[in-house]
Amino acid sequence: MKYATPELLSAYGVNISPNLIELDPNRKTYLEIGSGKGQFIAAKALNHPEELWIAMEMNINVCYRILEKKNELKLDNLMIILGDAENLDLYFESSVIDGIYLNFSDPWPKKRHHKRRLTAPSFLSTYQHILKEGAFIQFRTDHVDFFHDSIETMESAFDIMDCNLDLPESTYMTEYEVKKRQIGPIYQLTGRVRKHD
Ligand SMILES: C[S@@+](CC[C@H](N)C(=O)[O-])C[C@H]1O[C@@H](n2cnc3c(N)ncnc32)[C@H](O)[C@@H]1O
Repeated sequence: MKYATPELLSAYGVNISPNLIELDPNRKTYLEIGSGKGQFIAAKALNHPEELWIAMEMNINVCYRILEKKNELKLDNLMIILGDAENLDLYFESSVIDGIYLNFSDPWPKKRHHKRRLTAPSFLSTYQHILKEGAFIQFRTDHVDFFHDSIETMESAFDIMDCNLDLPESTYMTEYEVKKRQIGPIYQLTGRVRKHD
């Protein structure tokens, strides 16, 4: 479908407005921000039916592609949010998420746009807030400068656990990853959150 509407997505259960989401504290809950067409998160949800997987995507037409996968694979444990990560704290209370995935986020190469990156300090401090004690963030990209800059910003909020400069292929790859692998290495950073309190 080329022109999905918020009303159509909402009719299929997609969360289209920034209201607080009630989560079961006893169920592992993972969030992918900027899910694109949803290949990564649909595979995760399919292979981990006991866990809740939440896809957040602000582009309505690609968001619709996640919905198609959810319906086709009958993924009751995949929740979809049509929304902007700027509003994350309107959807989630403190300490409710077990892990955040940032896959091939827009690199915003120009310095004056760095604050829009999903690894910019303002986003990281929201992630710190919604992540549980001991929870993790995983960031994957093909963009070397974005990767190195993000190590620096992330170190202020996360303890870096793993830094991989040539990530091997895996079961869980996004649409972008499949394409970008043909051109060069894939970088991945994993960190454990440091909570404020
Ligand atoms: C380069 S694409 C990568 C898509 C997917 N993760 C992949 O690897 O195939 C980046 C995606 O992040 C989404 N995005 C960017 N900024 C966002 C934000 N602030 N909140 C939600 N989604 C965002 C874009 O709409 C786009 O679909």
